[in-house]
Amino acid sequence: MILYKANIIFTREKDSFDIIENGYVAVDNGRVVGVSTDPGTWDRYDEIIDYGDRLLIPAMNDMHVHAPQYRNQAIAMDLELLPWLNNYTFPEEAKYASVEYAERMYRRFVHDLWRFGTMRTVAFATIHLESTRLLMNLFSEAGMGALVGKVDMDRNAIDALHESVIQAVAKNEALIAEWNDPNGLVRPIITPRFIPSCSPQMLRACGELAWRYRLPVQSHLSENASEIAWVRELEPESKNYGDAYDRYGLFGQTPTIMAHCVYTAGDELELMSHRNVMVAHCPTSNLNLSSGMAPIRTFLDKGVKVGLGSDISGGHDLSILRMMVYAIQVSKMYYSRDKSKRFLSLSEAFWLATKSAGSFFGRVGSFEPGYEFDALVIDDSDLNHDNYSLTNRLERFIYLGDDRHIVARYCRGREIPEPRVLD
Ligand code: GUN
Ligand code: FE
Repeated sequence: MILYKANIIFTREKDSFDIIENGYVAVDNGRVVGVSTDPGTWDRYDEIIDYGDRLLIPAMNDMHVHAPQYRNQAIAMDLELLPWLNNYTFPEEAKYASVEYAERMYRRFVHDLWRFGTMRTVAFATIHLESTRLLMNLFSEAGMGALVGKVDMDRNAIDALHESVIQAVAKNEALIAEWNDPNGLVRPIITPRFIPSCSPQMLRACGELAWRYRLPVQSHLSENASEIAWVRELEPESKNYGDAYDRYGLFGQTPTIMAHCVYTAGDELELMSHRNVMVAHCPTSNLNLSSGMAPIRTFLDKGVKVGLGSDISGGHDLSILRMMVYAIQVSKMYYSRDKSKRFLSLSEAFWLATKSAGSFFGRVGSFEPGYEFDALVIDDSDLNHDNYSLTNRLERFIYLGDDRHIVARYCRGREIPEPRVLD
C-alpha cells in the first residue's frame, strides 16, 4: 500500500468539495483505500510519496472526442454541423485508410490527452480497422483508459467512408475478439456515427452487436436544428431522435452515452432519464458550430448523468479542465435567458468532469474507498502568490492554469509517463 501526501480535493457530491489539507490518500492495488489527515490511520504501508504543498485531484475524463479530427483542431470553424462534416471532417477522416498517417496523428493525440491530464477517454475513431486497432494499442501502451469506437456509417457521407453492414460487423467483431476483456483499460464501444449516416440495417446491426457482446454504445443526439429535421424525415415512425436510436437497441439497452443533447426535451428527455443514458456535454463544440446551449441544469434536476467532452474538432480545446470553465460560462448564458435554470457552480463542473463522467468506466473519478486511483498532481506555486485558500487555488488552476502545472498523472494506480510521438 502506498500513501500519497498532498492537499487533496475531490467531489463526493456535486454541491461541495471534499478537502483534506496536508492529507493522505492510501492506495492498494490501484484502488483507493481511504483518505485521512493521519498516516497512523493505516497499520501498515510500504511507502509515503510526499507531494508537499501540491494539489492532488482526480484525473480528467473526456467523454466525447474524435481522434481522427485532431489535425483539424482549431481550424475550419466557419460552418454549421452538416456542411462542416461534408467540407472538412469527412475528407480528413478518409485519410485514416493509411495506417502511417494514422500513427503520426494518433500518437500526437494520445500524447496531448496525457499532457492535459485526461486519463480516460471515450473516443470515435474512423471506419478503418487497422487505424482503429492502432489507436487502441496506443492507449494501451500508454497505460491510459479508453473506450474506442470503430465508426459505423453507410450513407450520406463520401464513398471512402461508406462500407457494407457485413464489413462493419466483421471489423467490429475482429476488434471485440482482441479487446473485449471486461476489466481491460482499453475496450471497444459500439459507434454508429449518427442516424443520418446509418441505414436502418446498419443501426440494427449495431444494436445487435452491443447486446450480443454487452458493449457500451456512443453516438450523437439532437445537436443541431437541421440535423434534427433531417432525422425526422429519415425516421418518420420515430417519436423523436432518441426514440429512433431506441428502436434499434441503441438507447440504454447497454450503457449508452450521447453527445450534445442540445435540443433534448419532453419525451426524449423522459426516455433518456428512464434508460439511464449519459449526456456528453461539449460546450466548445456547441459554441463553434453555433449549435446552441444544452440544458445542463434540467438534466441534473432530472437525475440524468452528464460528463464533459472536448469533441475535437467541433470543439477546439482538448483540456477538460478548461471545459469546466466553458460549461460554467455557457450555463450562465443559459441562465441569463431563463432565470429558473441556476448556472453551474465550480464544484458541480468539477463533479461533472470527474465523478459523474467517471461512473461510465466503473468506479472512477473520486477518492472514495474502492475507486480506481486516477489522479493528477498540480504544482500551482506560481499561481499561489498570496496564500489563497485551497478552493481558491483549485479555481485559479482551473481558470488560469495549463498542462505545465500538472507534474504527475496516475491511471489505475500507475504513474503514467509521457507517451512517445513521431517526429
Ligand atoms: N455528428 C455526426 N458526426 C459528427 C462529428 O464528427 N462531430 C460532431 N460534432 N457532430 C457529429
Ligand atoms: Fe462529436
